[in-house]
Amino acid sequence: MAVVTLHARAKVNLGLWVGALRPDGYHDLVTVIAPLALADTVATRPARSGIVLRCDSAEVPCDERNLAWKAAEAFFAASGIKSGCHVAIRKRIPVGGGLGGGSADAAATLAGLNRLFGSPLSPARLRRIGARLGSDVPALLLGRPCAVRGRGERLRRISLPRLNLLLHCPGHGISTAWAYRALDRMRQSGPALTPPVLSPRLLSLYLRRNEPDRAAPFLANSFEPVAFRRFPALRRVRNLLLQSGADAACLSGSGSTVYGLVMKQDWKDPMAAMSRHGSPCLATSTIPA
Ligand code: C5P
Repeated sequence: MAVVTLHARAKVNLGLWVGALRPDGYHDLVTVIAPLALADTVATRPARSGIVLRCDSAEVPCDERNLAWKAAEAFFAASGIKSGCHVAIRKRIPVGGGLGGGSADAAATLAGLNRLFGSPLSPARLRRIGARLGSDVPALLLGRPCAVRGRGERLRRISLPRLNLLLHCPGHGISTAWAYRALDRMRQSGPALTPPVLSPRLLSLYLRRNEPDRAAPFLANSFEPVAFRRFPALRRVRNLLLQSGADAACLSGSGSTVYGLVMKQDWKDPMAAMSRHGSPCLATSTIPA
């Protein structure tokens, strides 16, 4: 029986600037999304009817609450294909950690089903369906580094080298919707704490030129003040990564993962230092383009 198995790559946000609340309830943002070697795998195969989802992680719901389930439903609705499918997810991306795991599984489900059923939907159509599922899905469908604007639907491919990253995943998630609300509340009640607007073009240039000192100021995230106030340990991890030899350190998405970018030296020493400090990290790298 036909099976399509795809990598569902995690992502980090290389910098994330969040603008004001829009009338439609979303926020404008500017970010660079970089897919990672770290990935789930998603296998799709046809079923006579219905959507059957399985996952090897107990943390993940296997029903309509799962974004991959919603992706399968959206694929059949948009393509008009009268069929069902089995979706099997092998989970490797920490859940709820700002690494886009749920969105990656949804993107791989859309792409996998499209391939399985003879490509009835164009890549642009898949991205539009993905945008309705979640803000990170279009970028993860693209599968390569891109500058992201709007509420997450305006994508531009950018060129990035392979970057070595250390990820600290604290074992708890942070709800994206909560983080946006908390950011709005913080902005209403005090001075604006927003970092300067990220320039994806300059960030890409400095990273390609191997100039981490010039790239580092762009690796700031508007959610850091709210995430660090609620979870002070995350601020300590960011500082520890910098002291341990990372060239830059930043929250990914709305958290909870904090990553360090290691360009000037081998990543093994900073990784060992983080372990000694009691904040173990996972080593991975971005997919270059
Ligand atoms: O699209 P995603 O599922 O990641 O969004 C979760 C929530 O985050 C949305 O319901 C919305 O409240 C908020 N959000 C936002 N502006 C964005 C993306 C998300 O306010 N650009």
